Amino acid sequence: MLIHDLIGIGFGPSNIALAIALDEQRQAGASVNALFIERQESFHWHPNMLLDNTHMQISFLKDLATMRNPSSPFTFVNYLHQKGRLHDFINLKTFYPSRHEFSNYFAWAAAQFDDLCVYGEEVFEVLPEVRDGEVKLLRVRSHGAGGEMHERLTRNLVVSVGGTANVPECFRPFKDDPRIFHSHHYLHRLAANAEANKIAIIGGGQSAAEIFMDLHGRPNAPQIDLVMRARTIKPADDSPFVNEVFNPDFVDHMFSRSAAERSDMLREFRHTNYASPDLDLIRQLFKIFYEQKVAEQARHQFLRRHEVKTVRADANGVHLTLYDQNGKQTITNRYDAVVLATGYQRAHHKALLEPLAPWLGELETDRDYRILTAPQFRPSIFLQGASEASHGLSDTLLSVTAVRTGEIGTALLAAQPAARRVAAGAL
Ligand SMILES: Cc1cc2nc3c(=O)[nH]c(=O)nc-3n(C[C@H](O)[C@H](O)[C@H](O)COP(=O)(O)OP(=O)(O)OC[C@H]3O[C@@H](n4cnc5c(N)ncnc54)[C@H](O)[C@@H]3O)c2cc1C
Ligand SMILES: NC(=O)c1ccc[n+]([C@@H]2O[C@H](COP(=O)([O-])OP(=O)(O)OC[C@H]3O[C@@H](n4cnc5c(N)ncnc54)[C@H](OP(=O)(O)O)[C@@H]3O)[C@@H](O)[C@H]2O)c1
Repeated sequence: MLIHDLIGIGFGPSNIALAIALDEQRQAGASVNALFIERQESFHWHPNMLLDNTHMQISFLKDLATMRNPSSPFTFVNYLHQKGRLHDFINLKTFYPSRHEFSNYFAWAAAQFDDLCVYGEEVFEVLPEVRDGEVKLLRVRSHGAGGEMHERLTRNLVVSVGGTANVPECFRPFKDDPRIFHSHHYLHRLAANAEANKIAIIGGGQSAAEIFMDLHGRPNAPQIDLVMRARTIKPADDSPFVNEVFNPDFVDHMFSRSAAERSDMLREFRHTNYASPDLDLIRQLFKIFYEQKVAEQARHQFLRRHEVKTVRADANGVHLTLYDQNGKQTITNRYDAVVLATGYQRAHHKALLEPLAPWLGELETDRDYRILTAPQFRPSIFLQGASEASHGLSDTLLSVTAVRTGEIGTALLAAQPAARRVAAGAL
């Protein structure tokens, strides 16, 4: 069986950027035999949240390559040039392209690595290959769309699987109810609820706000309750000094601090990213609620400081019992559909790597995003998007992707000769 130097799980922006960084290394004479495995049938970037009138929350300069290598052919500017839109884009006078356009840019970059990626396979576990008391290689097992199993061997691994839907406890028993769904499935699941007239959105972050605007503009004019437990909606702070937490050198700063100081920083800067829509979007929401006051028609409700206590579903609808912390009262509302815009968890890598647990400890990563392992463990395993606690808030975003993948590429090459000797000698 062919032994890969690197297998990457997932082919979203993080691993596309890594493929670009490795391609640069290859052109400089350092070749790595890499393969990426993606569960979707073709490249898509958060397809169920690809809503009209949404735009990037990050400058286009934080694309797949520019921050590491502005002369890369994989920059967003070169993409625009190739598509003949550079002049028109300049005239838009924006740093924030639409999500449709950035998604097309990612797809354009991904397509240039079609020979390095197998689509339509979901990795479900990674096993150790033990020889002479040492883990020398990793066996990556995946299922294809038809259920068939595939196995591949690799010297190193990079896990870049993104987030998984965070579903609040009280909604978990309803995972098969088509009327209750997470924002991650929004467009697909809404299609099956096209007639829904009364919809609750749970959450007060960017996803909740975007979905509110999307539903508000739908032709069937549904009535929407925006249900959140916070006191109000606060905007993402993207002012320049604060935004320095997303600079690549802030990763060094964060990583060099004690665990206590790191958690303080995450708490202090949480609202640069989480539960914090763009200010422009908040203004649009406010205007809608203001206009319904003018019209004296209370179509939508903003239920702040409301906690979902219980959920009941029957043929008549989904019934949410909500505790109003301000009014100190409990109400029960009936909905045709409920959208959980309740954010994401970052734990999928733990399940995939579970069989390696005896060698991996707490899954702590070093500065190069490599999991700290026991001495008898030869492969390097890198994590992208799962090191927020040690590397900072940029970790789950695109902010440092170009720089991070350069760092991983360099660390991988440094690990390469030893790994190759082991594989050639012992297996
Ligand atoms: C709606 C939305 C909009 C966003 N907009 C921005 C933005 O404007 N700016 C910003 O900086 N960040 C944004 N983010 C954050 C987002 O995390 C990053 O933009 C980016 O998607 C991270 O790339 P990634 O490759 O790490 O993860 P993902 O994009 O999530 O890609 C992970 C890939 O791994 C695949 N995968 C998962 N598990 C497996 C498996 N077991 N086997 C095989 N394949 C698997 C998935 O199918 C997916 O293609 C947004 C997030 C959301 C949800
Ligand atoms: N245009 C874009 O570029 C775009 C669009 C969408 C998303 N994103 C990005 O995607 C990431 C996630 O954003 P998001 O809005 O999906 O998630 P989020 O920012 O994590 O917000 C989740 C919301 O759900 C609430 N919530 C979580 N658990 C809950 C529970 N058990 N009960 C009730 N409420 C609960 C949170 O409330 P509390 O604060 O009370 O916990 C918060 O209001 C962010 O990085 C965001 O920037 C970007």
